[in-house]
Amino acid sequence: CGITACVGDDDVVDTVLTGLKNLEYRGYDSAGIATLNGAGVRVHKREGGIDELVAEVDGVDLRGEFGVGHTRWSTHGAPTDENAHPHTDCTASVAVVHNGIIENYAELRGELSAAGHLFTSETDTEVIPHLIESELAAGKPPEAAFRAAVDRLEGSYAIAALIDGTEAIFATRQGSPLVLGVDDGRRFLASDVPSFIEFTSRVVYLHDGDVVRLTPGEHSITDVDGDPVSRPIDTVDWGSEDAERGGYDHYMLKEINEQPEALERTINGRITDDGRVDLEEFPAGAFDGVSEVHFLSCGTSHHASMYAQQLLRDRGIPAHAFTAGEYATTPAPVSEDTLVIAVTQSGETADTLASLRSANARGARTLAVTNVVGSTAAREADEALFIRAGPEIGVAATKTFSSQVATLALVIERLVADVTGTPSEDSEAVLSALQELPDLVNRVIRDSTASSLANRYAGSDGHFFIGRGVAYPVAREGALKLKEISYEHAEGFSAGELKHGPLALVTSETPVVAVFSGKHDRKTLNNVEEVRSRGAPVIGVAPESADNVAAAVDEFLAVPETHPDVAGILANVQLQLVSYYVANVLNRSIDKPRNLAKSVTVE
Ligand code: G6P
Repeated sequence: CGITACVGDDDVVDTVLTGLKNLEYRGYDSAGIATLNGAGVRVHKREGGIDELVAEVDGVDLRGEFGVGHTRWSTHGAPTDENAHPHTDCTASVAVVHNGIIENYAELRGELSAAGHLFTSETDTEVIPHLIESELAAGKPPEAAFRAAVDRLEGSYAIAALIDGTEAIFATRQGSPLVLGVDDGRRFLASDVPSFIEFTSRVVYLHDGDVVRLTPGEHSITDVDGDPVSRPIDTVDWGSEDAERGGYDHYMLKEINEQPEALERTINGRITDDGRVDLEEFPAGAFDGVSEVHFLSCGTSHHASMYAQQLLRDRGIPAHAFTAGEYATTPAPVSEDTLVIAVTQSGETADTLASLRSANARGARTLAVTNVVGSTAAREADEALFIRAGPEIGVAATKTFSSQVATLALVIERLVADVTGTPSEDSEAVLSALQELPDLVNRVIRDSTASSLANRYAGSDGHFFIGRGVAYPVAREGALKLKEISYEHAEGFSAGELKHGPLALVTSETPVVAVFSGKHDRKTLNNVEEVRSRGAPVIGVAPESADNVAAAVDEFLAVPETHPDVAGILANVQLQLVSYYVANVLNRSIDKPRNLAKSVTVE
């Protein structure tokens, strides 16, 4: 979900709607807005996307200097008009938008219902305005009522509230993202900076427990006890054009095309002229004594972690990439010599944060590898390293995968040098391949023939992706991308595992995409033979010199020659393009696939 808010001297309706539009990638099954002016609180909300909301409020008088908005990704209750935010109390004098989950809502709802409060939705959120209402009724002033209500909540939340009769917006966060935007006459709040980047680039990253009071041109931040806290105003180093589509049909295509520059930024200044990794965050010896590495992540970030796991194991360091949702409940043992790396584009994925907290609590050394400065993961891990990919708006992650893998490859070369006392055998070759990577990715995008495959294979019974070594996580990522945006059935398997079950599904109607990195290719070619003999068409993605692969497959997508440890990133770019064009042929909602959200802030 995404929340946004604005306080100004003038009407803020258009600003709130723009803020919502800019946040739509966080959820898009229902949306709403509430404003406050001298005449009270007004709310408009409905099932559907922001465009439907904008069309509906056109001509409706919602004018107000205080506004909050919400775009929803359903957790409690279906995406209906009633369940859309903002939620109000009985007299509609309090309006609340919320991102997160109130874990004790059933108990609170029971208590409030018994006291006569009437509920109109199935959401957990609705308890919040009713709690505020009951605190106001008990005689508390607005800010105290807001604090007292928040005090009752258990779970994760970012909340913004309008209270009739008060010339302010109150907001707080606990475990869900919330940033403050600062402009001369206005203040903004949002789940993510792109919401208000076209209005201001000056931001304050709020911390858990902060309570913010916004008035036109001013804000104050206090802690849970009401004592003032000072938070610096940072300036983000990207602008609204980075978060716009810029002439492309979809954000996804734009972001695929941005990978060369994103990788340039990822690597910039991190490899010295004499071929060493220089990470300013990590002085020499920072990784001394690390005996094993755990990666915690979800979705595409998990595939980047699997890739890194392979690189570490190849260099003799024990490594394991866990899915964060599992690790949060069933963690693996750690010691103070375990380095736990949370890999998360947003830095806000609830599963990843929960697993990171578990590792922190058990005394591991923790590092966040993330794209978002000021994110919760960056703050809660012992150290943070930024992948510098720039804002990614398309729900399906593309450029952040490439930048995550490149960042992790740098960390790994540094870690191996610290732990073993010497650079890895392949260090020099890998670092020089990373420096060439932006150019090579550019060539893949320029020369790709992926679009010509789309018509042929869209609508197949299923799509299987296979690979070995680093090509295995790439196969998994290729399948994830395809299913996310095209809704075609797709699965990724380690090439060797295919014959142990999935082969039963292989027919002439199930194209198999085989990914090659230049290492272990012979064995994967055996697996290609296994599926071809069952009639499956095979698409091979491999280095351009791999004539043996080209001869064995029906379609060949070539990537430039490079070190095998880096080749997987190039192969993945081809697979991103395959998915994009298949989804395009099928006319799917590429940037906002059904049921998915960019950042999932609930466990
Ligand atoms: C969601 C998104 C995925 C993403 C995953 C992890 O499920 O739809 O695209 O890979 O979250 O996100 P993170 O921000 O932690 O990398």
